[in-house]
Amino acid sequence: MKILGIETSCDETAASVVEDGKILLSNMIVSSVDLHAAYGGVVPEIAARSHLESILPVIDEAVKGVGWDKIDAIAVTQGPGLSGSLLIGVMTARTLAITKQKPLYAIDHVHAHVYAAYITKTSLPGYKLPAQQPKFPLLALIVSGGHTQLVLFKNHFNYTVLGQTADDAVGEAFDKVSKILGLPYPGGPSIAKAAERGNPKALALPKAKMENKYDFSFSGLKTAVLRASQTLAGKDYTLPSYELAGLLSDPQKQDIAASFQHTALETLITPVKTAVDEFSLSDIVVAGGVAANQELRRLLSENFGNQVIYTDIKLCTDNAAMIATLGFYKASFGQPKADPYSLEIDPNLSM
Ligand code: KG4
Ligand code: ZN
Repeated sequence: MKILGIETSCDETAASVVEDGKILLSNMIVSSVDLHAAYGGVVPEIAARSHLESILPVIDEAVKGVGWDKIDAIAVTQGPGLSGSLLIGVMTARTLAITKQKPLYAIDHVHAHVYAAYITKTSLPGYKLPAQQPKFPLLALIVSGGHTQLVLFKNHFNYTVLGQTADDAVGEAFDKVSKILGLPYPGGPSIAKAAERGNPKALALPKAKMENKYDFSFSGLKTAVLRASQTLAGKDYTLPSYELAGLLSDPQKQDIAASFQHTALETLITPVKTAVDEFSLSDIVVAGGVAANQELRRLLSENFGNQVIYTDIKLCTDNAAMIATLGFYKASFGQPKADPYSLEIDPNLSM
């Protein structure tokens, strides 16, 4: 069974064909990230317009080597995400489902991030994929720019959200701290790079204590980084954050980045440890853009060894292969199809 996945929830226009929920046949991604960099964050109107320009060529390219007659179904991101962005993907998928006469499946973007780890084979160059698919019971740490969740899966569609962030997503915290330090957008890779040369113990930063032992919080950490940075710059809390980057030296920025990253990653690991002690698990999957972070991977491996399944960095950040893969499991496990005449976006969809 070959599924065409379509993803447009944020600033990546993506289409991919995946066979039998594990073989990656094509993976096209066009990002408008460069257009947003000047603003330090995604501008929804610019993202939507870019999707409109890219969506048809991206889908054509993804389907080219396979052929429309071989596509068994279409899976599209319904939410969560930016309304204008989601609309382009959903309207395109609806139209194609009608004109090409294919079944349509509506996909939860956050749920789908976990399914990137189910892709184990490809003849496309440059992919480092897991040797085996994850097994249940499965613990998924989903860490992206919009979401931070710990989910226990008993099966594909039988899961419990153990915990989530009470405020900022961890990726969002990386992006905000990066902005304070004047580093290039997106912040995750910039912080990771700066942190390589810094001392993770340079600043004593607080880790949030949550009522639910599986929840996360990052907004206090972000404020603590701001205050510590103002102090390092020899100023007080009245100094506007946009003036900080110009006052800090490179070694100071590297220490701030390393200390922030260390604390943020420890904040992620603690609930995972608790869950590993409490539940008997087969595998752990780390998914979403922040799963690209090498220091997070090192910490997870140090704590949980080869119980943790990682996928290729290109499949951690937003892509359509994860959408197609979850589409396959929806189709295979009798999950309801979407009506191509009426499917609506759901910007606030949650697992
Ligand atoms: O999953 P994703 O591509 O989009 C969302 O669904 O949000 O995640 C994007 C997030 C951004 O916040 C970005 O800064 C972060 O993932 N990210 C990283 C790294 N690469 C991307 N965070 C930390 N370290 C990285 N290497
Ligand atoms: Zn995402």
